[in-house]
Formats: sequence, C-alpha cells, structure tokens
Amino acid sequence: MLRKLDYIASLGVNTIWLLPFYPSPGRDDGYDISDYRSISPEYGSIEDFSRLVEAAHSRGIRIIIELVVNHTSDEHPWFQRARRAPEGSIERDYYVWSDTTEKFADTRIIFVDSQTSNWSWDPVACAYYWHRFYAHQPDLNFRNPAVVDELLAIMRFWLEKGVDGFRLDAIPHLIERENTSSENLPETHQLLKQIRRVIDTEFPDAVLLAEANLWPDDAREYFGDGDECHMAFHFPLMPRLFMALAKSSSGPIRDIMEVTLSIPSQCQWAIFLRNHDELTLEMVSEEEREFLWDTFAADKRARLNLGIRRRLSPLLDQDRRRIELLHILLLSLPGSPVLYYGDEIGMGDNIALGDRDGVRTPMQWSADENAGFSTATPSALDLPVIVDPHFNYQAINVDQQDGDQHSLLNWIRERLCIRHHYPAFARGGMDFVEVDDHKVVAYVRSLGDQHILCVINLANQPLATSLILSDFEGFVPKELVGGQSFPAVAARPYTLTLQPYAYFWLLLEHRYTC
Ligand code: GLC
Repeated sequence: MLRKLDYIASLGVNTIWLLPFYPSPGRDDGYDISDYRSISPEYGSIEDFSRLVEAAHSRGIRIIIELVVNHTSDEHPWFQRARRAPEGSIERDYYVWSDTTEKFADTRIIFVDSQTSNWSWDPVACAYYWHRFYAHQPDLNFRNPAVVDELLAIMRFWLEKGVDGFRLDAIPHLIERENTSSENLPETHQLLKQIRRVIDTEFPDAVLLAEANLWPDDAREYFGDGDECHMAFHFPLMPRLFMALAKSSSGPIRDIMEVTLSIPSQCQWAIFLRNHDELTLEMVSEEEREFLWDTFAADKRARLNLGIRRRLSPLLDQDRRRIELLHILLLSLPGSPVLYYGDEIGMGDNIALGDRDGVRTPMQWSADENAGFSTATPSALDLPVIVDPHFNYQAINVDQQDGDQHSLLNWIRERLCIRHHYPAFARGGMDFVEVDDHKVVAYVRSLGDQHILCVINLANQPLATSLILSDFEGFVPKELVGGQSFPAVAARPYTLTLQPYAYFWLLLEHRYTC
C-alpha cells in the first residue's frame, strides 16, 4: 500500500476506505473479526499501519477504516467467554441469547441465499444466539453498557493511531426489539448520538460514515439533526442510477434526489456505483428488482441474495460510453463520490467464484505475473486474477492505461481533476433544469457565483433537447473539458444536441454588459 499511495494520489483521491484488516477466520472476508485491536499478520503489523497512516497524511490522504461492531466472529474471545458464562452475567450478555427461535420474529433475513434464520443453536451455551448475517457472526448486544464501552474503547484505540474516521458497518442492526423490524430503532439512534458526542469532544476531525442500506427516509435519519453520522452511503440513489440508464429516463434520478437533497448542513452523502458487495437491490420495488435483474444479470449466476454480484464494467457490457455516463453522474450529483478499486480501469469480475469473491479479485496493476499484485506463486493467491478474454490482466491494467492518453483511467483522472477545481460539484446546491425530453437529465450545481450545468443523454440515440434556463439569460456556457464557449443563453429555450449517452459539464459564465 505504501508503494501505491502515489498512484492513489495521482487519481486525485483524498481518502482511502480500507476494508477490514483485523485478525479474522476470514469466513466473511474479514467482516468476522476475532480481535479489534490488531492487524492480521497477512497484512502487516501495527507499526506498518502507523507508517501507512503517516505516509498517507503526508500526501493529504485520509484513512477511513471499518468498524464492524454489529457482530464479531464466533471465534472472538468475547463469544467464547459468553457461551460459557452463567446466564444473566455481564459476560454472557455480550451477545443476544434466547431459548427459542420465536423472538424478534418480525426481523428480515439479509443473506437470503444462505441463511434460513437469524438464530443459531449454540451447544455450549445451550441457547440460541442472534445473528443478522452469517451464523458464524453472532451479534453483539448493545443493550449491555459494557459492550458500548468496548466499542468506544476500540474507536479511541484507532483514532489515537491516527485514523480519520470509520465506516460503520451494518449500523441499522445494532439493537433489536420485539415486534419491530429490529432496524433503525430509536435506541440505535441514541447510541449513535452517544458515539458522536465522544467523537465531537475527543476527536472532532474524525468522520463517521454510515453503511445503512435503507429506504430514503430511514437512510437520512443516520444524519440525525447533524448529531449522528457525518456521512452516509447513498444506497437509495445507487440502483436508481442504473434504472435511469436502463430505462433511458431521468425519472428515477429526479424522484430520489427530490426526497434526499435536504440533509443537515454539516453532513454529506457518500455516493457510489459499486463496492465490494453485491449491487444491492433490496431498496427498490419487486417489479423494479425484476427489471434490473433482467437487464443487468440475465445470467442467473450473477445474482446473489437480492442483488447482482458484478463489477461496473461487465454490468455495462464494457461499453465505454455508459461507463463514462455513470461516472459523470457520480462526479456531478451532490455527495462525495466513492470509487471501488479497479473500476477506474474497467476491471472485470469472475462469477464462477463463490459469494462476492468475483468482485474482489486482485487489482490489475500490470501485465506481470499475478497482475503485478503479488510475487507469490499464483496458486497461493487468495483469489485468482482475471484471465478471461475481455478483461484479462494483460489487457486491462494500470500500467497500460497510464501510458494511454485515451484510457478510461486517464479519462477518470481528468474528470476528478475538473471536479476538484470547481467546488460547486462538492458543496454546491442542485436544481433540476426543465427539459423537453425525459431521456435527458439536466441540473445546475451552484455555489456562490459558480454555476455548472450538467446535461446527460440517458438514451442510446442522438437527440436535440431544449432546456429552460430563464435564470441564466445572458450567461455563456463554457464546456469544462475543452474550454470552448457555447452560444449565450437567450430568452427562448436553450437547445443542445447530444450523441447517444453523451453529456456536457458547462460552466455558466456571466457576460457583463456596460
Ligand atoms: C457489510 C459488509 C459485507 C459483510 C456484512 C456482514 O454489509 O459490507 O461485506 O458481509 O456487512 O459483516
């Protein structure tokens, strides 16, 4: 990682979100933690970690790590102690136990493909224990104040090591209650407020980023009144970007933005296209899910739970126009964009691998053995590198794209650079622009005097469209990549022509008249 920091900096990325690196049996790729205060020897040592944090900070890059505390591994000493501890003891109550599987019956199962119940029998405790994910991941009991203290101590431990924040894994599921869905309970929000108070008092620069895969109203609640998480992944938006593209319609984007735009002023959405999990379709209607499955996962092996286990480029049939289009949305809609490693070079996946492994294969750095990812013998790699005809590492890798002016990598770099240059993208407000064609989505991002008009053709056909830009009469649109000026906005609707899946980012410049 130390050797790759310059690459990350060269992208214009200012924060790294590290997936779990803790000691773990590795049955959920590290989301099954057996020790929260150290680093799995596979990855290095605490000293290595400190070196990484220092090196990242010296380049202006922050490090966000995973705080996976909804559950532990069943190998964690807390669980081993709990199952042997007397009923009613503080140690036993680190986890959630029951004599029957009837309790919390209204709570859904998340990993529907592999789990049939949220309860599993523990023969040592002679009781069932609660788990929202895999059976080897017992849920911690946050009604026990000792568990809350442990959580705060873990946070302090890593913040003192210099980390800049946490992704709060599976945060809606922290606390459960009878006759509810056991998600987003007021108790969970109270706990988040308590965590936030500690952060504000002791580590005011740290960031809490919620992983709350929920409907818009519920997702927004993770900001509280600005007193819970600073950031939350925009799960409601993500599938609707794919929907807008598949339906060639601005409707899904407009609808979701209208209900998620207003958030407390010090908070921000983290928007994304793909991540290390399946592309979740939990928060769309059944009909929409079927449509998205049919469109993007016709091959049933690509489906997992209620989602699609594919990377961005294969989802879009390696179509550069659509890959660009989704990035244009990602980089210009309100929120901080989060990129998933490898998507910047259009990496492929391997649906023959189990679970979500297919989207977690080694980064393709070069055409060298193991894609330049490791010098181990290939059979010793955790997951094989991609070798299929369209996405193999000899053809798709950083080395190759670095030197190609027209590569996806350099295209993305350039867009990130532009985005960085115009703060309206990051912090500006957003107003949709009226257009005469629902195949086009258009909006203006504004911050002070800076106004950027984004116009995107979601359809696979060329078209001319008219935009109502009455507030900008007399302004001159300047295209942000090439710097060319377009005709000034007049009193009548403004006409633009767009190739299939084409887009413009236009700075609206005021032309002063004396
Ligand atoms: C989160 C992680 C996912 C993991 C799950 C259970 O959703 O993103 O990878 O499997 O939590 O820990």
